[in-house]
Amino acid sequence: LNGWVHRKRDHGGISFINLRDRYGTTQVVIDPDASDVLKALATELRGEYCIAVQGTVRARPQAMVNKDMATGEIEVVATHMVILSRCDVLPFQIEDETDAKEELRLKYRYLDLRSGGMQRRIRLRNEVAFAVREHMTEKGFYEIETPTFIKSTPEGARDYLVPSRLYPGKFYALPQSPQLYKQILMVSGFDRYFQIARCYRDEDARGDRQPEFTQIDIEMSFVSRDDVLSMIEGLMGHVFRKTMGIELPATFTRLSYDDALELYGTDKPDLRFDLRMQDFEPFVAASGFQAFKDALTTGNAEREAAAAKGVTLQGGGVKALVVPGKADYSRKQIEELEAAAKIYRARGMAWMKVSAGTDGTPVLEGGAAKFFADNAAAVIHGLGAHPGDLILMVADAKRRVANIALGAVRSKLGKDLGLNDTSHMPETSPDRFRFAWIVDFPMFEWNDDENKWDTAHHMFTWPQEKYHSTMESDPGSVKGDLYDLVLNGFELASGSIRIHDPELQKRVFRIVGFNEADGEKKFGFLTEAFKYGAPPHGGIAPGLDRLVMLMAGETSIKEVIAFPKNSFAVSPMDDCPNEVDQKQLDELHLSIRYPV
Ligand code: AMO
Repeated sequence: LNGWVHRKRDHGGISFINLRDRYGTTQVVIDPDASDVLKALATELRGEYCIAVQGTVRARPQAMVNKDMATGEIEVVATHMVILSRCDVLPFQIEDETDAKEELRLKYRYLDLRSGGMQRRIRLRNEVAFAVREHMTEKGFYEIETPTFIKSTPEGARDYLVPSRLYPGKFYALPQSPQLYKQILMVSGFDRYFQIARCYRDEDARGDRQPEFTQIDIEMSFVSRDDVLSMIEGLMGHVFRKTMGIELPATFTRLSYDDALELYGTDKPDLRFDLRMQDFEPFVAASGFQAFKDALTTGNAEREAAAAKGVTLQGGGVKALVVPGKADYSRKQIEELEAAAKIYRARGMAWMKVSAGTDGTPVLEGGAAKFFADNAAAVIHGLGAHPGDLILMVADAKRRVANIALGAVRSKLGKDLGLNDTSHMPETSPDRFRFAWIVDFPMFEWNDDENKWDTAHHMFTWPQEKYHSTMESDPGSVKGDLYDLVLNGFELASGSIRIHDPELQKRVFRIVGFNEADGEKKFGFLTEAFKYGAPPHGGIAPGLDRLVMLMAGETSIKEVIAFPKNSFAVSPMDDCPNEVDQKQLDELHLSIRYPV
């Protein structure tokens, strides 16, 4: 056995060493009648010494069997031992799941990676990547590498740039994704491409974001949206079956973007729990709640003014959430929920409670109940509420704000009430993983700051056929052939059917205020390629890090990446980014202007 000293105990002349390696832990015993050399070595051993042991496997006495240990029925009686290398004082103990601070874990990542948890997650990552390659190859996809030094093109985030030594003032960019290359591969006739691809984005780190990350990047020719969706359903099915023994449903729920927003207040709903938002507008007119009435009046006036300018707006909205059995929520708990709504620009959150009246009929109490004295029964019945329920409401002149703010309250309730907790389910229960497709996204988004239309995803998304004739006159209503795959409240993948017609592409450029010269300069090579018989095509890219993170039940992708950056885009282990020599800067024709 070769490995590390996990623990050592001495008991009346016998030493027990828990030797740990990639495969687990084994108890090694130095018996009282062992040689003096062996005993001396055993005395010298400390935690995390790297050792080699030879010996005999024997059954442990019945009383010493350890049921919690895979090797708990045996032990190895050492006959020879070598200390291969010694270990300094440890910055933290190697535990199955350490409680050491993240900064320390990242500084000594090689030690952190020795922990049982990290070893299991890296193993899972390897198994997932293997299962992906296995399935994609089986389905006739080629894995093709695309360059990591590419032309800087706008793709949403900021680029990481690499200065050119040979061409002063010129730069390569690291790819934010292989998007343009995979589309060009379709023009080249490789009609089924995939790649486990590194991507680089200079954006603020979050739990599910890293500056460099990995995508399972996919593109296919001659396909419709549904072909791409069912291919991914097959891929996920294979990956979960092979790596976790979980049988996922053959198809995943589909929700339109509009429905996702109306029902869950987000385009990445956590469907592990089924708390849905409802329309509250029908109950506003008969109520005495002026704030709700004002939100609708203002919103509708804004919608009409925008319509006169040819811009489609939704108008106002009032949304409600019935929280079953939570009428006992305290004022403080309700205020915490309201705070969540306010982060998403709600002006406030109204509430009331349903209780059983004296004659047994349900009545509204507390908070906003007084405004609904005349139509309480209609409200209770209409929302399907029962005595003991809590009703939460958000109104806004912008329906989207009401939806998103109340959606944030829904998410918080999911966590606070443990509605999304699946820890009681068997390991192989498919209900631990709730996938959903979000489809029919808007193609364009109004940019309030710049007073112009932007594309909602990227500029190569195919606007659905039925909107082609009205694209310029009413960009706000155009739906794109765009889809996201959502898992347990995270965006796991995103993709689209692409534009393959250079003329249609030019029209999209024009709508987002990209003139032909701009388009030509930035993406000229793509539009040029499309002139030579481009096939219709589409694709998608699930994030590998996010997939493994969710499979491992983690909430940070750092837990499934061997060497991640910290939240400040720094690697504490090797201390990068770092300064470079003046000579290197000179060769690259660069001088540094430090911020004052
Ligand atoms: P998108 O930008 O939505 O689409 O990315 C696709 C998926 O990649 C993962 N992802 C990330 N993971 C970790 N850290 C990040 N910073 C990060 N950014 C994205 C997510 C996300 O769903 N070219 C298109 C795909 C296509 O249209 O085919 C693209 O990159 O899981």
